[in-house]
Parts: sequence; C-alpha cells; structure tokens
Amino acid sequence: MKVLVTGTEGYLGCLLPPLLMERGYEVIGVDTGFYKVGWLYNDTGVTAKTLNKDIRHISAEDLQDVEAIVHMAELSNDPTGQLAPQITYEINHQGSVRLAKLARQVGVRRFIYMSSCSVYGVATEGDIIESSPVNPQTAYAECKTLVERDVQPLADDDFSPTFMRNATAFGASPRMRFDIVLNNLAGLAWTSKEIKMTSDGTPWRPLVHGLDICKAIACALDAPRDIIHNQVFNVGDTANNYRVKEIAEIIADIFPDCKLIFGNNGADNRSYRVSFAKINTVLPGFKCDWNARQGAQQLFDVFRHIDMSADTFMFRGFTRIKQLEYLIRTQQIDQSFFWK
Ligand SMILES: NC(=O)c1ccc[n+]([C@@H]2O[C@H](COP(=O)([O-])OP(=O)(O)OC[C@H]3O[C@@H](n4cnc5c(N)ncnc54)[C@H](O)[C@@H]3O)[C@@H](O)[C@H]2O)c1
Repeated sequence: MKVLVTGTEGYLGCLLPPLLMERGYEVIGVDTGFYKVGWLYNDTGVTAKTLNKDIRHISAEDLQDVEAIVHMAELSNDPTGQLAPQITYEINHQGSVRLAKLARQVGVRRFIYMSSCSVYGVATEGDIIESSPVNPQTAYAECKTLVERDVQPLADDDFSPTFMRNATAFGASPRMRFDIVLNNLAGLAWTSKEIKMTSDGTPWRPLVHGLDICKAIACALDAPRDIIHNQVFNVGDTANNYRVKEIAEIIADIFPDCKLIFGNNGADNRSYRVSFAKINTVLPGFKCDWNARQGAQQLFDVFRHIDMSADTFMFRGFTRIKQLEYLIRTQQIDQSFFWK
C-alpha cells in the first residue's frame, strides 16, 4: 500500500516512515521545511522521499496511486498556533479539510488525522473518553476540533477517516522538539542541572512517546476498515497520565545532581486526565511500549552520546515558535507562511 505522510520533516513525521516501511508500506512524504535546520542526531533509519511543498498546494497529481494519507503537517502546538491565529486556521483547519476532500475525490481510501488531547481543554471530573465534550482553549486546539467536525461527514463506503487524539508527545527524535514538557524539562536538567517551575506542578498531563504514536498509526493502517472507519481514538496509555510535578521528579531522578524547585502558582488551568481504554481494547496490536521514566532515560542517553551543549538545547530549530518567529523576522516566509 502506498502511504503519503505529510510533515515528514517533523518531530513525529520523521519517526513514522521507517516503521511503516518495515511493515511493508511504500511511503512518500510532503513537508514545506519550516524546521529543516533542526537535526539533533543521526539516526540509522531510512527516510521517505519527501516532496518539498505546502499542504495548501497539494494537487491531485501528488496523490497518484496513494491509498492512505497520514496527515501530520500543521502548525503544531498551542504557542505556535497563537503566533498568527489566522494562518493557523488557514493551514490547520482549512488546509487539512481541503486535503481530506481532495483525497476522497481522487480515491484515497484512508485518512489518518493527527488530532490532539488538547481538544479537551480544561479540568474535568474523572478520566476523559472520546465521547466527552471538547473544550478547546487555543486556536491550535480549536482547529483540531474543526477538522474532526468537517472531515467526519466525508466518511463513506470508499473513504475512511480516523482521528488520533494524541497525548502530549515525548522522547528522542532526530527532528527534536524542546517545546514539549518532558523534553523541555530533560533539556533543562541536562544543561543547567536545575528545574525551576513557577507553578506548583499539580496539573495533569497525559503523555505518550513519539514511537508509540507511530505504532498507533501503523496499527490503524493495518486494522480492518470497520475498526477504524470514522473513529476517534485517544492515543496513549491511561497509566501515562502524570502530574507535571511527577514528570519533573522523574527527570530529576534520572539526570544526576538536578535541583528541583516548585513555585506556588496554580494558574494553569490546562489540566486533564484521559482514558486510553478504547485504543487499547479496540485497535489490534496497540499497546504503549514507553513510559515517562523510559523516555527520560532515552533522552539522557542521547544527550550524553552527542555531548549536547546549552546552545544546541536553545537552538531555534528545536523550538517551533522561535524558528517561525525567525523566518518571519528575516522575511523568509510571507504573511501567509509561504516561502518567499
Ligand atoms: N508532538 C506532540 O506532542 C503532538 C501531540 C498531539 C498531536 N500532535 C500532532 O501531530 C502532528 C505532528 O506533530 P509534530 O510534533 O511532528 O509537529 P512538528 O511541528 O514537529 O512537525 C510538523 C511538520 O509539518 C510541516 N508543516 C507545517 N505546516 C505545513 C504546511 N502548511 N505545508 C507543509 N508542511 C507543513 C513542518 O515543516 C514540520 O516539519 C501535528 O498535527 C500535531 O498537531 C502532536
């Protein structure tokens, strides 16, 4: 089966093709290359042949013989989405819906969409399930709900969308991101031997390793159609709901001599615990292989192996908002985020 993965130069997008190719899929990629400069370490895995193109310009010819799309290319995470909310809507909402419509029109049979647990927003009682109400707090999260809303009605006998509401990712990737909680704390622990938090660390965050997200995608592609047809899955493991405080404690435990300081500001209302029972019972072959402790150890091993400097940790190529701000300031991309 020929699979098009969008966002193959991304944190998750570069981890997926090797896994799919190993399972016998033919993989091609698309990416506009916003974070091309960010490459933390060499990996031995194969890379997919990637078309250098904006998803808003993908044409029917680009989808020739493609049977499934895994759509990852968006402005990813809450702060990045706030940088230019209008463009976030253009790429993440309109761009993604256009791609799904085009896919359906040309006969692509499966469309796996990277949604996010951030659609759930603020604190609730008990563990959130897929049918719980969404409550997006940012343009990024709202776009995820809008894509789900607009792509679900496209499902028919020949077109099966699947919506993966991923927990917050962690773990090593050659296209590293240090703007996600566990990776950020690990980078701080390595470079400054200190984690200083302004908050009290009580909010809950469900976490999932990038490789487990990729495994979920592979399982969804392998699965019989009736299991994934127009389904929403929370992607993660219920045991991997952590308080931010616990994540910091795990890091401090693994990174030697790391000092841990908590503040008493509890203002961050983005706190949620998520149930991952559905994906673990319904999707054949899926089970997370990683927890936060293993991910922290993996990062420690990578940082030590590459002798990571503070400059590398701070480099714009590994923090999405910094890199996009740089591309805007230097006028390499225009107001619509197209390359000049
Ligand atoms: N990393 C997480 O914690 C997480 C959690 C939940 C959901 N997700 C979702 O998974 C997907 C992949 O996440 P990621 O962490 O790999 O993100 P990323 O930002 O590292 O990668 C996204 C890639 O898409 C490309 N891209 C962005 N806009 C584009 C456009 N208009 N045209 C073509 N390419 C474009 C970028 O250049 C980048 O290489 C995203 O949709 C994200 O919202 C990620």
